Amino acid sequence: MQKKRVLSGVQPTGNLHIGNYLGAIRNWVESQAEYENFFCVVDLHAITGANYRHELAENTRRTAALYIACGIDPEVSTVFVQSHISAHAELAWLFNCITPLNWLERMIQFKEKALKQGENVNVGLLDYPVLMAADILLYQADLVPVGEDQKQHLELTRDIAIRINDQFGSKNQPIFKLPNPLIPKAGARVMSLTDGNSKMSKSDPSDMSRIHLLDTPDAIAKKIKKCKTDAERGLEFDNPNRPECHNLLSLYMILSAKNKEQVIAECQNLRGWGDFKPILIETINSSLQPIQAKYQEVINETGYLDQVLATGKEKASAIAFATLRSVKDAMGFLA
Ligand code: AMP
Ligand code: TRP
Repeated sequence: MQKKRVLSGVQPTGNLHIGNYLGAIRNWVESQAEYENFFCVVDLHAITGANYRHELAENTRRTAALYIACGIDPEVSTVFVQSHISAHAELAWLFNCITPLNWLERMIQFKEKALKQGENVNVGLLDYPVLMAADILLYQADLVPVGEDQKQHLELTRDIAIRINDQFGSKNQPIFKLPNPLIPKAGARVMSLTDGNSKMSKSDPSDMSRIHLLDTPDAIAKKIKKCKTDAERGLEFDNPNRPECHNLLSLYMILSAKNKEQVIAECQNLRGWGDFKPILIETINSSLQPIQAKYQEVINETGYLDQVLATGKEKASAIAFATLRSVKDAMGFLA
């Protein structure tokens, strides 16, 4: 039986954090053997942000190296850079011309990011989900493993696919498959360390709000020691008045591979934050240590990463350009 196809990506904007890891990359790794996988570094998306244009090339390499460091095996999965395959931008243009403007104006992420960019909102920011739809549909992906925040973009991707199928496909030969999001049960929304009501994000001005995958043990200890907690007694999940408590316990639960009951039982014996934080620090450090060691190996092996990305480009191109050709044919372009 044909394996289902998976596609996902992360923007090369600075260092990846544990939200990216738990919401996305860790799940790519876990289901790697089960699917046919395409993981891209979405550098064309990154330039829609105001502050991320510096170090674009270096950050692209770092992000690809982190995929591998987290456990993506280039022998099993295709790892590539979005801008290396011009079909992404070209398909996005074709989609632009069939996507109603008001579909994009409703996107939550656009509204949030546009607020932050103030008077400098670029067209790319609005168009961001159309390019994402192109990324996914070019590969006829069945599944897209992402964090909770990308759910709306996946719905838009399906709407674009349906529209193209309706306008240019035939009933028994749809042009695009409809992809489904794959959102993890735990870790889909890791919250900020400085505010349990907002998600951990690369664009938060405070570095103390997130843990980077490449943070040193000292930095991690400092961030957890200083992170926001509360003055309530005991530690508990799911109390809406204690979002920080829920977030820290959830982090511990996922990284220690324990279940909720085990964590609750363990916490009953603790006196409070002073007892819990050292355990959490230790757990985060021991989870990140192997990733950091592998990252150093990947980055320091001359030529390795470039070879992986060149092979990835070749494999991905074959599929991407074939899909693009069939869409252009269906839309009536001169061959
Ligand atoms: P981005 O950093 O926006 O490129 O996001 C890359 C991937 O990480 C996407 O699948 C996001 O849904 C996921 N992600 C980003 N932030 C978080 C978070 N705080 N918690 C869980 N997943 C996240
Ligand atoms: N929009 C995604 C994010 O911000 C990144 C992304 C771009 C993506 N293209 C994609 C994710 C295709 C999955 C599939 O997190």
